This record gives sequence, C-alpha cells and structure tokens, in this order.
Amino acid sequence: MSTLATALEKRRSIYALGKNKVIPEQRVREIVEHAVKHVPSPFNSQSARVVILFGSESTRFWGLVRDSLKPLVPPEAFGKTDEKIKAFDGGYGTVLFFEDQSVVRGLQARFPLYADNFPVWSLQSNGMLEFAVWTALAEEGAGASLQHYNPLVDEAVRSAWGVPADWKLLAEMPFGSVEAAPGEKEFLPLKERVLAYGDGKA
Ligand SMILES: Cc1cc2nc3c(=O)[nH]c(=O)nc-3n(C[C@H](O)[C@H](O)[C@H](O)COP(=O)(O)O)c2cc1C
Repeated sequence: MSTLATALEKRRSIYALGKNKVIPEQRVREIVEHAVKHVPSPFNSQSARVVILFGSESTRFWGLVRDSLKPLVPPEAFGKTDEKIKAFDGGYGTVLFFEDQSVVRGLQARFPLYADNFPVWSLQSNGMLEFAVWTALAEEGAGASLQHYNPLVDEAVRSAWGVPADWKLLAEMPFGSVEAAPGEKEFLPLKERVLAYGDGKA
C-alpha cells in the first residue's frame, strides 16, 4: 500500500489524548503550515486561516469552551460535559480552523456568477485542510479529533487571541499522544457508495 493509503487508514478520531509530545511543537507548526500552503482553495483564494494553541493556551481554549457551555447545560448533566472537555484538554495542543469571510465576499463580488457557490466551496476547502492536518498528525504518531464548539465560543476566541472579526471559526482539533487505540470502525458496503462505469467497472 502507498504511504498515502496507509496514512488515510491511520487517521482516526482519538479521544484518549496525552501530553507526551510525540511531535515536537515546532514540527506541528510545520505540518500545519505545509497543509495550509498546499491544500487547494477555489480560484486559489487561500481563504483558510489557522490558530495553533499549545500547552497552557490550549488549556485556556478548553476553559473558554467550559465557561460557554456551563450556562447552557443542566447542572446534573454538566459532569459529563466537563469530562469530555477534560479529555480534549488532555492533549498538548489544539488547532483552530477558520475561513476568512472577507476573502469569500471578495470572490462573490469579483465573480457574481458563482456568488452562491463561494461559501460552500470555502467550507469544502476548509474540510480538506482539516483532513490534511488530521492525517499528517496521525502519520507522525499524534492522535486528534475534530470538534465543533463554534459558534458558541467565537466571541471568546476572538477576544482571547485577537482573531480578526472576518475569520469565521469552523472547527477545533485537539491533539496529543495516543493513550488508547480507537475502537473498530464499521464500513458500509462500497458497492452501495461507489459506482463505476466503463474501464473501472467491477
Ligand atoms: C465534518 C465532520 C464533522 C465532525 N464533527 C465531530 C464532532 O463535532 N465531534 C466529534 O467528536 N467528532 C466529529 N467528527 C468525527 C466523526 O464522528 C468520525 O470521523 C467518524 O465517526 C469516523 O471515525 P474516525 O474518525 O475514527 O475514522 C466529525 C467528522 C467530520 C468529517
């Protein structure tokens, strides 16, 4: 199997994270920068933005998530919520994924014919970036998962790290050492999901 195919299989949602720095912080930064640079975007608009939070800054983020959820979750259920947050904070960092809405609006103004498509393509492109970072972290031995506490934490994130107002938060990826392997994953029959005609016909 190719290196890429192996990496695709290796990427899983890892919830049991530890603080053992299996990938040094500088290397995490390189991985993220490489993905941000090379992941495609509509009209090469490069609308993705990322904030990487290491150590205490990551803990600060999960504290903001906790503070945002507390008034919304019934007290008797908050223990479970808090456990989840602690697990995400169990790693040694979190990657925040954004799309710069000023870029999306700029594309809509320049290419009115595709105006409705740009917000959708922006999300698709960011999904590619999230996947690329997730897979690259897994490839080098770190575990991660994909979380969505946006838009709940948007304002808190903006003021905590001075994030520009046009950067729309789309996903949060806590990462760390893999402290427990993920469970077995079930797969639907590929015959139901992939059709091929012509030379690729089964
Ligand atoms: C677009 C998208 C959104 C997701 N959102 C969440 C989420 O908010 N919380 C979470 O724990 N996992 C989330 N996941 C992870 C999926 O549940 C997970 O990828 C899927 O069950 C397959 O498991 P695997 O990642 O181990 O292969 C998301 C995945 C995708 C692709």
